[in-house]
Amino acid sequence: MKHKDIAIISLFIALLIALGFIPPLPVGFLPVPIVLQNLGVLLAAALLGSKRGTIVVALFFLLVLVGLPVLSSRSAGIAVFYGPSGGFLWGWLLAPAIYGLGDRLLGTHHGFWQRGILLWLSGAVLVDGLGALWLSIGLHMPLTSALMASLIFIPGDTLKTVLATLVAERVQHALPVHD
Ligand code: BTN
Repeated sequence: MKHKDIAIISLFIALLIALGFIPPLPVGFLPVPIVLQNLGVLLAAALLGSKRGTIVVALFFLLVLVGLPVLSSRSAGIAVFYGPSGGFLWGWLLAPAIYGLGDRLLGTHHGFWQRGILLWLSGAVLVDGLGALWLSIGLHMPLTSALMASLIFIPGDTLKTVLATLVAERVQHALPVHD
């Protein structure tokens, strides 16, 4: 791995940590808050692609695993990954790889909307879907109720996707962050 990659990965981990300082918004009927931190995951997926995007999320999770309160909720340790937010977090880990795969399948002839929809599917729909599946298992809820409850995250996650797509579109041409 090149020095440039190490610098970019460190920058995105710092971005994730910084976004975690924005207080979470509790959702009364679910033990999972609305956060801004997943904007960092969306940006890592859109700008860094599969490999480096996944490394960013994995290293960030390593900090959580060793007990650092870097998540917006300030929870840490292994329990976070099988607690109520677990499915969403596994989704964060998968999102850059799924986005990268879709990006490669789409090839070079795709523009703003295709990228935006791909990012939305991998970074919002997949993440919130996995989160709902996990909640339904963990909280013994019917899957449809968990899916309906998780719809609360879709408007915010859609806005974050639009923002990440716009930023990626601008930054990609200006900075040598993409492979
Ligand atoms: C934590 O801080 O413990 C993790 C919270 C995970 C929140 C998930 S991320 C996807 C979905 N969108 C949100 O705004 N919140 C949930």
